[in-house]
Amino acid sequence: MSAVTDRDETAHGPAAAPHGSDFLQLRADDVPADGKADWLARRLRQAITDRRLTVGSRLPATRLLAGELRVSRGVVTEAYRRLAEDGHVEGRRRGGTVVVGAPPHPLPPRARHAAVGSPFAQAPDPRVFDALRAADARIDLTPGRPDLSAFPRTAWLRAERAVLAELSSADLGYGDPRGAPRLRRAVADWLARSRGIAVEPDGILIVAGIAQALALLHPVLRADGVTAVAVEEPGSLGTRQHLASGGLATPPVPVDAHGPDVGALRDSGAPAVLLTPAHQFPTGVVTSGERRRELLRWAADGGLILEDDYDAEHRYDRPPVPALRSLLTDRLCYMGSVSKLLAPALRIGWMIPPHRHLRALTDAKRFTDLGSAVLPQLVLARLMESGHLERHLRLLRARHIRRRDAMIAAVTAHLPGATVHGAAAGLHLTVTYDAPDVPDTELAATALSLGVKCHPLSWHRQLPGRPGLVLGYAADPPDTLTEGVIVLARALRSLT
Ligand SMILES: Cc1ncc(COP(=O)(O)O)c(C=O)c1O
Repeated sequence: MSAVTDRDETAHGPAAAPHGSDFLQLRADDVPADGKADWLARRLRQAITDRRLTVGSRLPATRLLAGELRVSRGVVTEAYRRLAEDGHVEGRRRGGTVVVGAPPHPLPPRARHAAVGSPFAQAPDPRVFDALRAADARIDLTPGRPDLSAFPRTAWLRAERAVLAELSSADLGYGDPRGAPRLRRAVADWLARSRGIAVEPDGILIVAGIAQALALLHPVLRADGVTAVAVEEPGSLGTRQHLASGGLATPPVPVDAHGPDVGALRDSGAPAVLLTPAHQFPTGVVTSGERRRELLRWAADGGLILEDDYDAEHRYDRPPVPALRSLLTDRLCYMGSVSKLLAPALRIGWMIPPHRHLRALTDAKRFTDLGSAVLPQLVLARLMESGHLERHLRLLRARHIRRRDAMIAAVTAHLPGATVHGAAAGLHLTVTYDAPDVPDTELAATALSLGVKCHPLSWHRQLPGRPGLVLGYAADPPDTLTEGVIVLARALRSLT
């Protein structure tokens, strides 16, 4: 590693330009055959970041450094140009090239420290989401968050007041563990309208989100002899961790541009699979008609599909594809929630299990909590019945499209060579970038140190694959998203 001597910052302008090869101890022997300018820019950037080359100090004259390193002057000029582009240095006519202020530096000492102890420092365990949530950041691009500022507070309050006014005292007692009949009816109607599902209210269980649906399923599946639930690759880290916490193995099944590889699913030997067919997490792939038919054939041969419909309502180019549950009732357990529609904090969702599991799952729900809290269920039912939820969804869709487009435009402008995946639906984009040697955990850690939170794509993989980032766009206005992407681009530049 090269060393660059510390220099005092002077109060009256840049420190004098150093003379001779003793200033920059970069060795000519270390210069690579290819990518010389890249190499030099990286070394200098590192020196600035580490404060070995301090603000105000002047870089050596290009001719001098070129001579010492036995490279052309153009190489040094190009390296300096890149540093200037980053904002690390500034060319001053007579003053030479001078190191200017810390920001926008890639890794100030505090930030480097943060990167070392960041949530991205080791393989993600279940607490990693808590750590990331607690991490300080100016811009939060983590996926899975709807626009919480859009929560319909007034409509919710109005509906709650109306519900309380008409509620009998008896309604405040213990309720049906399957959920309030009124909400189950409203959900049945909502799913018929928005997801093409035909189901009677008695076939629905109200649960505390998809997370609880999975938790209730663990023992029921194990009792059925299921020890492995195949998962999409890449696929949600959170749901995979959830299955693992229930003692279930999670063999990966690759996802391509059409959906899950059903051949690989058969080969895995897993008797069940957890899928996000409407908008695959994280790639955004919408499962094609042909793959849906293949999945139905796999299920007909005895497989069980767990359909996670986590953000299916948010489709932008055309109406959402109907849920797989609209085609298959018996070998499929459907799960949905209002987490991406209203707010995760409500913890309200639903599941439609295969008939043979309904009783066991009702018992599991009973023994977990005797049923979900009734008051919010009734408020939600009222918002569904009145058409308010549909109006809210229309508002969100228009807003999301603007935000998604802003993020895509920012990625195109600031991350050249990056590819955007899964823009047709959902609340996030997956972006793979043009620097396969930069681990995405390192990029995410650097971005976090610069004030931007996001998920590295590798978190959502069990097998090696292209690095990338999963970026939520639903929760912030376009300007913030653009700023966030600019920071990501800066972070990437600092690592390449
Ligand atoms: C793919 C996926 N499924 C399920 C969930 C959990 O949803 P819920 O809030 O309904 O428990 C999440 C949470 O972000 C998710 O990303």
